[in-house]
Amino acid sequence: EKGGYDWFMVKEIHEQPQAIADTLLGRIGADGRLQLDEMRLSDGELREVDKIIVIACGTSYYAGMVAKYAIEHWTRIPCEVELASEFRYRDPILDHTTLVVTISQSGETMDTLMAIRYAREQRARVLSICNTNGSTIPRESDAVIYTHAGPEIAVASTKGFLAQVVACYLLALYFAQTKGVKYGDEIRAILDELDKIPAAVQTVLDRGEQVRKLASDLAGSRSIMFLGRHVGYPVALEGALKLKELAYLHAEGFAAGELKHGPIAVIEEGVPVFVVVPPKARDQLQEKILSNIQEVRARGARTIALVEEGDDSVVAYADEIIRLPKVPTLLQPLVATVPLQIFACEIATQLGHDVDQPRNLAKSVTVE
Ligand code: F6R
Repeated sequence: EKGGYDWFMVKEIHEQPQAIADTLLGRIGADGRLQLDEMRLSDGELREVDKIIVIACGTSYYAGMVAKYAIEHWTRIPCEVELASEFRYRDPILDHTTLVVTISQSGETMDTLMAIRYAREQRARVLSICNTNGSTIPRESDAVIYTHAGPEIAVASTKGFLAQVVACYLLALYFAQTKGVKYGDEIRAILDELDKIPAAVQTVLDRGEQVRKLASDLAGSRSIMFLGRHVGYPVALEGALKLKELAYLHAEGFAAGELKHGPIAVIEEGVPVFVVVPPKARDQLQEKILSNIQEVRARGARTIALVEEGDDSVVAYADEIIRLPKVPTLLQPLVATVPLQIFACEIATQLGHDVDQPRNLAKSVTVE
C-alpha cells in the first residue's frame, strides 16, 4: 500500500507531479476557456465580489498566503488571508459582496468549518478548495473547487498542499477571466506554464539525493531557519512547519525583510539558514535577498539557497545551492516547497521518528 516506499509521506511526496496534473485535468473547455465544475456561482455573482478573504489553518493557510499574491496580481480584487481560528473573533467586515475562500485538505477542520458558518451568517458567499469529496466543508459551501491529490494518509500535508496551491491559481485565473481583465493572453500563458509544472516537480524529485545528503549533514542541528520574500515567504513558513512537525526541531520561517527587525538576533555561528531566492526576473527582490544572505552569513550562518537554474547571482554567497527549474515567479512555490519537504522528511527519519504519525498531531483536527 505504500507503493514500495518506506513511508506514506515519501510516497505522497513522489505523487506530487500526478496530484498537480490531476488537479489541472479537464479545466479547459471546448471554447478554450477555463472551466471549474463545481463553481456554482454565476459570472454575475462573481462580478459582484469586491473583496476576497481566504481562510484556512496550518499548511492550508500557507497555500492561502500564496493565493493572495496570485489573486491580487491577476484579478486586482483586494484579498486578505486569515487563520480560521482568528477570523470570527475579530468582528470581520463581511457582506454579500465578500467571497470567503476556505482551503482544507480534509474538509473536516473544525476551525475552518466554524469560520464558514460565521461567514454565511453574515451573508458572505463561501467557496471551498478541498481534497475530500463529500466532506463537511464543501457540503456547507456555496461552491467548491476540488483538488485531486488523492487520499493523503501521512498526517503532515505534502501533495495536498501543492494541489491546493494549483487550485488557488485556477481560482485566481477564473476570476480574471470572468472579470475580463486585461490579462486575457496572460491567462493562457500561465495555464501553459502550469501544464509544465508536473515535469518540473519531477525534476526536483529526481535530484532529491542532494537534499537527503544535506539532511544527514544537518541532522544534529538545534535550530534551522527559513527565509523568503513574496511567494517565497509562505514557502519558508511551510519549510519550517514541516521540520517542526516531523523532526521536532526548532524551526522558524521569516519574511527576509523582517530579519533586521528582530530575528537576526538569533542567528549564531553554524545555524543553517535556507533562503528561497526569487527568480532572476524579479531583480529588485533578488537584490534584497542577496543582501539578506550576506547579513546572516556575516553572523556565521550556514546558508542554503534555493535558486532557479541558470541564475548564478548567489553562488558566491551561499554555502550550498539547491537548483530549481525555471518557472514564473508566482508559480515558484510549486517547485521550491518540494526540497524542503524532502529535507524535513529525511531529517526526521534519520532521527528515528515516525514521519507518517508525528507525535501530538492528528490528520483531521475536529476540535476548535
Ligand atoms: C501540516 C498539516 C496541518 C493542516 C491543517 C489544516 O502538515 O497537515 O497544518 O494543514 O491542520 O488541515 P486541513 O487542510 O485538512 O483543513
